[in-house]
Amino acid sequence: MRSDIVRPVRLADYRPPDYLVDTVHLDIALDGAATRVVATLAVRPNPKGRSGAALELDGDALTFVRAEIDGAAPAPETYAAASDGFTLHRPPQRPFVLTIETRLDPASNTQLMGLYRTASCTCTQCEAEGFRRITYFLDRPDVLAVYTTRIEADKAEAPVLLANGNRIEAGDLPGGRHYAVWHDPFPKPSYLFAMVAGDLAHVADEFVTASGRRVRLEIHVEPGKEGRCAYAMDALKRSMRWDEEAFGREYDLDVFMIVAVSDFNMGAMENKGLNVFNDKYVLASPETATDLDYANIEAIIAHEYFHNWTGNRITCRDWFQLCLKEGLTVFRDQEFSSDQRSRAVKRIIDVRNLRSQQFAEDAGPLAHPVRPELYNEINNFYTATVYEKGAEVVRMLKALIGDAAFRAGMDLYFRRHDGEAVTIEDFIACFAETGGRDLGQFMLWYRQSGTPEVKATGQWDAKTRTYRLELAQTIPPTPGQPSKEPMVIPVRLGLVGASGDLPLRLAGRPFDGIVALTEPSRTYVFEGVRERPVPSLLRGFSAPVKLVHELEEADLLTLFERDSDPFNRWQAAQSYATGLILRAVRKPDLPIDARFVAAIGTFLDDARRDPAFAALTLTLPSETDIAREIGVNVDPDAIFAGRQALRGAIGRALHGQLMRLREELAGAGPYSPDAAGAGRRALRNAALYLACGSGRAEVLAAVARQFAAADNMTDRHAALSILTLSDVPEAEPALQSFYERYRDDPLVIDKWLMVQAQIPTTGTLDRVKRLMGHPAFSIGNPNRVRALIGAFCSGNPTQFNRADGEGFRFLAAVVLDIDGKNPQLAARLVSALRSWRSLEPVRREHAGAALRGLAEAPSLSRDVSDIVGRALA
Ligand code: TRP
Ligand code: ZN
Repeated sequence: MRSDIVRPVRLADYRPPDYLVDTVHLDIALDGAATRVVATLAVRPNPKGRSGAALELDGDALTFVRAEIDGAAPAPETYAAASDGFTLHRPPQRPFVLTIETRLDPASNTQLMGLYRTASCTCTQCEAEGFRRITYFLDRPDVLAVYTTRIEADKAEAPVLLANGNRIEAGDLPGGRHYAVWHDPFPKPSYLFAMVAGDLAHVADEFVTASGRRVRLEIHVEPGKEGRCAYAMDALKRSMRWDEEAFGREYDLDVFMIVAVSDFNMGAMENKGLNVFNDKYVLASPETATDLDYANIEAIIAHEYFHNWTGNRITCRDWFQLCLKEGLTVFRDQEFSSDQRSRAVKRIIDVRNLRSQQFAEDAGPLAHPVRPELYNEINNFYTATVYEKGAEVVRMLKALIGDAAFRAGMDLYFRRHDGEAVTIEDFIACFAETGGRDLGQFMLWYRQSGTPEVKATGQWDAKTRTYRLELAQTIPPTPGQPSKEPMVIPVRLGLVGASGDLPLRLAGRPFDGIVALTEPSRTYVFEGVRERPVPSLLRGFSAPVKLVHELEEADLLTLFERDSDPFNRWQAAQSYATGLILRAVRKPDLPIDARFVAAIGTFLDDARRDPAFAALTLTLPSETDIAREIGVNVDPDAIFAGRQALRGAIGRALHGQLMRLREELAGAGPYSPDAAGAGRRALRNAALYLACGSGRAEVLAAVARQFAAADNMTDRHAALSILTLSDVPEAEPALQSFYERYRDDPLVIDKWLMVQAQIPTTGTLDRVKRLMGHPAFSIGNPNRVRALIGAFCSGNPTQFNRADGEGFRFLAAVVLDIDGKNPQLAARLVSALRSWRSLEPVRREHAGAALRGLAEAPSLSRDVSDIVGRALA
């Protein structure tokens, strides 16, 4: 009935559904391979659809059993049922009830989409198109229905039965079985459906909303893991409070549940009232989780909770609008973390991540707009562009219209569109209204892919006391978009003089710190500039662009030491270090510039004032940062060597000072994951990493001592990672003892796999292959695969990109193996090759050959063939 040829889906082809479904009654009887699903749908013709059209329900790998229309079996010639769809040729042109029964085998579902088995339970994942693997449905986000779910299962196997909404009934059945009925009063699209059944333990708490409603909170985990939920629960309560305070959003059901599962394709899922999480983002204790793990848990708990309003109450009309919920919700979780921790530090971390993931994506063959206009496989569009650049677009909107108009626009959006499935245009229209301006040009941020480049040239005129700043924008060509229109780019800026920011006037008025560049280029003349200033541009990273400027090293030092904007202080140090590494890559024999090292030395004297910020400042640009800067003919070995040269120079010159700083920051009481403690540990470990660059025995001994004596995972893991990255003899015994200590804890063993995958020496590929045979590894578990294979391919630039091509061939072989089980996971792994064209010719040839080999493999999934096809195009 459906063709096998993959036809792209186009935004331009959107049509409203011909039928609507008002209510769904699901009756799910879990019974191993013979799990029975009876769906009862109240269907009616959509007044906005084509009247008389066939009703075509989506399906994927379903086993059809029977159908009824208004309680009677339809004649065989009136319908068609296949594994991938159910069609009623001439449905009644009035409301009717359609009942369909299907059979499922959750245990054989290795894709982890639809209804599947994980270690502790049977659970669902329906976004984006997983519901059609449970029952036939109009599986599109603009069909909103009220769901009632009855789950029946063996009581001993699955004492806990959960679904969306409130539990309205439960009871025992003959034969050791039992059931529960859940009702969710909020109409929702099918991708937000969820159910969970299993032998789970839980911790419970309560939250009282601003208007005084009591909400029961539950986190369900594998029995025995209850002790590791406290931080997640605390983060949930803080998220709920924050959404009330920052956005006026209250929770709307009587219960909010989180279930942690060990087999999960992504981070977490915002199903209405029943979030399902990768257990990595729920479970934490000081002994098993690092500060980064804690920060991720806080951010992801918040993210999924915030979806309740941005995603669930107001959802997407179609999957092209994915950034409507994801970009906005990432923006919201970033703001939450900024308020909970340090705004400057959070911004730097987010920008670092944006550049390493999204800029890389935008510069390669997989580049796409924040709102794509065409896809082959929607699973491949849960990308850094949709999420992180999507969040940047919301941030720019706020910068352009101002805080008050932004908040008013959000209020209007919630008021106007609650209960609807909408588009980016609907969203932006709210801000055009409250901001009182035309946002037509702003919409280009959703349509044009590629990272704009903003070139700044400035000139101070002592006589007229003016500073002329020219800003010029260009946007590089990207797949399908050879030429671009100029965008509206908010550029925050200031001019820094001898004693800080100079007061400025622009066009005769006091300057408010931000300009909006709308033309290809424009010159701004600042008045009242009494001394030669250093421009501080793109403060706070006010737009996701690549800034090109003419600052010299002395100017960078000025900004590093004096800029009032912490982001740009950090940026100045990074730019300086980037320049030094680039020089070391091109001229390996030149010594490292001593001025930078001296400036770092001076900075260390004051580093204790803001340890988290100092730690980021002391973190050298990554190898991928440098590769992006070089752009073409990249040689990862040369980059590695250049970066090590800078690390070595700093370590040799400053090891004494670095180790003293580390000492001074030690022992501030027992471990606590709060931002202050995390900042101190981050600074201590950044100092240790740099000091270790000196190669001195006493520093190495300190690392080994820290590994052995640490009372928390952050310090133990940092020490282990310094040892393995430094390729010293102390690394092997440390790896051994780490394994012995944590062998029964898969989430910790993931760290063990990951540090080994990242060792920057030639033995690593063989080690990774050997570890794939280790009992701790499992090719069916996405966390294990990402920890070992993902870390090797995306986190070990020299070894994955080996000049002999073995790294690429290894990836291709693993991808083929995984593709047969879990295409979504396989496709994610292939994206490690997204920058293959920027490699030097020998490596490029090997990478291209690996991709072409994949392209020719028989029976590739749509997920993988889409990525491979675009990578090669
Ligand atoms: N909507 C989820 C989020 O960002 C992510 C998600 C999309 C997902 N598809 C998924 C999670 C598939 C797990 C599996 O919050
Ligand atoms: Zn999300």
